[in-house]
Amino acid sequence: MAALWSGRFEKDMDALVKKFNASVFFDQRMYNEDINGSIAHARMLAKQGIISEEDRDQIISGLEKIRGEIESGEIVFNVDDEDIHMGIEGRLTQDIGDAGKRLHTARSRNDQCQVDGRLYLKKEIKAILKDLIDLESVILEKAENYKDTITVGFTHIQHAQPITLGFMMMAYFQMFKRDIERLQDCLDRMDYCPLGACALAGTTFPIDRAQTAEELGFKAPTENAMDSVSDRDYMLEFLSDASISMMHISRWAEEFVWWNSSEFSYIAIDDSFCTGSSIMPQKKNPDMAELLRGKSGRVYGDMMQLFTVMKGTPLAYNKDFQEDKEGVFDAVDTWKISLEIFGKMLEKTEFRRDKIENALKVGFLNATDIAEHLAQNGIPFREAHNIVGRMVKLCENKGCQLEDLTDEDVRSVDPRVTEEMLGDISIEACINARKSFGGTAPSEVERQIKVGRDWLESVKAGE
Ligand code: ARG
Repeated sequence: MAALWSGRFEKDMDALVKKFNASVFFDQRMYNEDINGSIAHARMLAKQGIISEEDRDQIISGLEKIRGEIESGEIVFNVDDEDIHMGIEGRLTQDIGDAGKRLHTARSRNDQCQVDGRLYLKKEIKAILKDLIDLESVILEKAENYKDTITVGFTHIQHAQPITLGFMMMAYFQMFKRDIERLQDCLDRMDYCPLGACALAGTTFPIDRAQTAEELGFKAPTENAMDSVSDRDYMLEFLSDASISMMHISRWAEEFVWWNSSEFSYIAIDDSFCTGSSIMPQKKNPDMAELLRGKSGRVYGDMMQLFTVMKGTPLAYNKDFQEDKEGVFDAVDTWKISLEIFGKMLEKTEFRRDKIENALKVGFLNATDIAEHLAQNGIPFREAHNIVGRMVKLCENKGCQLEDLTDEDVRSVDPRVTEEMLGDISIEACINARKSFGGTAPSEVERQIKVGRDWLESVKAGE
């Protein structure tokens, strides 16, 4: 079959070239968007008197028939279709004749593929927002359950200060909150319709781009035709947002892996989220957490691929741009399933308080609190820091905890210090006292949960 554009050609395409050139095997994912775009275009053409009302009606019913045939599996696209746009238009013309040939008046595949791309991403972004919102709900629930469960807070993977599990969960809540806000921004910025930009310069036909934009659910038509067919910023923005969010998932997944290790055993990941070993019968591996950690690399790859494709490309459309889709599709699929898997894994995860309690005894978690108490007793903080450092050294030599030091011990470190000055340095007291705005005290975590819940409700209401 000769291509729809073959008028000026004397030779058929080389078979290998056809295969190399075709995008239909992947861009058929956007068949619905392509049909919706074409229907809106046909309506507008008829309203503007560019095609007749009979043509319009034939086009619309023809396209609906094709939609049904794609969905039932009756239509199977092949290399001759080249891309989804020509695959559908070619079949439409086979079915309805001349009216089908009029559909492509005042548009080009250059704007058409961007209408499809934007409609497709708008739909998927809404689905991903829903997945992010679901994950946030699970995090809130867990944070509530564990708002006063004390655990070890780390820096440099070294015991640092006591925190609550709820506090740590709310840290991740904030990351995914920003992911949601970023994605909402991205959605807002891409919400302009390129249809009617045509090849690069607009058209001589009296089209109404505002009408097609409105019918397709966009805020407005894009402002400049040349930009409309050349712009892939919205995809890059989406891929950047996806990469950041996948990075957040990978960080928490990594914590799951080590919390689940024999050395930590803070959690035991549910059996249904682990796999075994083909040789070591005792093994229960945290494969889902590891896969989630790894999937971030895949999405960064999708992002880097498109940045690299776009770099240095001149205006306007270049065939390089056909390489924009597969990475976006892959990122959509990967991000969606990762959010879902992660949410489910988190939901099923219980923390082992006994193991965590043991860990709290290691690493002088209350050292900073003592330094703060000394500073409250008039010793400059920098000096207090040094004194407590020496107390820690003394404890290490004696093989005891800071709370075991006697009055004599502390005076031997610095004569200004009394045991009384150390104050209440039980882990509970240390946690409860950290009630500065954004701190780990349960009362403060409760406030963070409340603010988070209100925000999530407002996002759900605006969905
Ligand atoms: N399949 C093409 C793409 O995805 C559609 C646009 C083709 N336009 C062109 N002038 N070759 O980019």
